[in-house]
Amino acid sequence: MNFTAPWFHNAHEKVWPMWVAPILVPRSPVRILEIGAYEGAATTWLLQRVIGKHPESRIVVVDPWAANGSDYDYEAAHARFVENVQETGLAERVSKLRATSRDALPPMPDASFDMIYIDGDHSAEGAEFDTRQAVRLAKPDGLLVWDDVFFVGEHTADVVAGMNRGLAACGVRNRPVLQIGGAAVMFRSVLP
Ligand SMILES: C[S@@+](CC[C@H](N)C(=O)[O-])C[C@H]1O[C@@H](n2cnc3c(N)ncnc32)[C@H](O)[C@@H]1O
Repeated sequence: MNFTAPWFHNAHEKVWPMWVAPILVPRSPVRILEIGAYEGAATTWLLQRVIGKHPESRIVVVDPWAANGSDYDYEAAHARFVENVQETGLAERVSKLRATSRDALPPMPDASFDMIYIDGDHSAEGAEFDTRQAVRLAKPDGLLVWDDVFFVGEHTADVVAGMNRGLAACGVRNRPVLQIGGAAVMFRSVLP
């Protein structure tokens, strides 16, 4: 596989085997939504460790792969995503939506996913939008996972502000999240 960004492998790959797979695999078949996929580091991990464990499990990936003024080469990242997913042999389990979450999420039905991994637009507005949609889209016992919450990084304050605003809009006063590595994790069932 071909990855140039270290984000997933330096952080989540060390801890996800201890909680993502043990929670989700016994629930199989599962449906996962990933918001922001870049080269597919998390997507391929989830395919190999969770989705591939049951023939009816699926992952939906939402990412515009569009530069929007950043220096990243998103066409190249998209090409690596496609190749990396092909290499897992599980490409038919992936629904790839090349779109922003603002366009892709609203038409999706309520309570559709067992896990939603929010790692897309890291602005406060973007994180708030994705949080509100994720609460709607998660199954009652689904898992919500926000990246870039528990470490000091360029976007952390914005992501935290967006997550808190999104949860407040859903009637949550105290943020009932767990810290697992740099990510914040919550079961949908703790929310009103
Ligand atoms: C940090 S990267 C994701 C990393 C990925 N989860 C991994 O495992 O390596 C952020 C991604 O979010 C995408 N993105 C930015 N704005 C978005 C939006 N509004 N909706 C969905 N994805 C978005 C970017 O195109 C980029 O690929």
